[in-house]
Amino acid sequence: MTLAPSARLAVLASGRGSNLAALLEAFPGQVAVVISNKRDAPALERARAAGIEALHVPWPPGGARDFEAAVETLLSSRQVTLVLLAGFMRLLSPGFTRAWHGRILNIHPSLLPAFPGLHAHAQALNAGAAFTGCSVHFVDAGCDTGEVILQKRVPVQAGDTEETLSRRLLPAEHEAYPQAVRLVLRGLAFPRPQPGEIEAEFGVNVAADAQGVRAARLLRDWGREDAVADALEGHLTPLTSLARSTDELRLAWTTLDSLSERRARWEKRGELLVQAETLGLGAHCARALAVTADEWDTTTY
Ligand code: GRF
Repeated sequence: MTLAPSARLAVLASGRGSNLAALLEAFPGQVAVVISNKRDAPALERARAAGIEALHVPWPPGGARDFEAAVETLLSSRQVTLVLLAGFMRLLSPGFTRAWHGRILNIHPSLLPAFPGLHAHAQALNAGAAFTGCSVHFVDAGCDTGEVILQKRVPVQAGDTEETLSRRLLPAEHEAYPQAVRLVLRGLAFPRPQPGEIEAEFGVNVAADAQGVRAARLLRDWGREDAVADALEGHLTPLTSLARSTDELRLAWTTLDSLSERRARWEKRGELLVQAETLGLGAHCARALAVTADEWDTTTY
């Protein structure tokens, strides 16, 4: 299911709310409600100061059920279609995460799957990691186990403590979360599709990964339905290669390579456009690349 770019968002936060602040700035007018399990969470104060509805929903000692029922009611009455966990310190139940499959995100301060769970910075320091980072991921029933949408890398420096490392990482989180949300709202990030979903969308009963689906959608939008099945099945033809390369290039800013390597790849997009021209798809390819071109301006990590 694809979300409207103007989808209404809810943020669930338990603490400070610095990621909430980044989201409020990036999506003015789109955050419908902020919910916290902590009555005195600074995140609620931040939301109120920004004129956003901010609600405390207690987490009962018995577990998630009453909390989730109350939150479901709030989300549906506010017509929320995307839920963003930002420093939300409770594990939601499998029933809740299944109901919001592909429409609930979290940010975690490590390069998942490394260092999930609590004290991620300390885990990175104890492991002697040279780098750590942050991950925005879809939420599943596990703890920080859902599919990764976007990661940013930061160096660990000699003498780092949990505090210095988390302070260095936080600006990367504030860059990553809005970018990841835009990827989801633009239909460019979604969980691994199930065969039934592919059949419903394309009429072909195959298993494909997200990259295959994005390439197939490009070809369909370009009026080349004849190449869609090849793209889904991963067959390389001039058309499917063009669609895959276009997809890779429009997402080149998301990789973990150095920023200069990513930019160098992007600067060579003229070569791909020439190739697209030979297939009569130059204008289509250029339009596809333009969809995320603005992200280069917001990418510093
Ligand atoms: C962030 O480090 C986030 O990655 C983790 O919890 C922290 C929340 O910070 N899940 P804030 O409340 O957004 O300032």
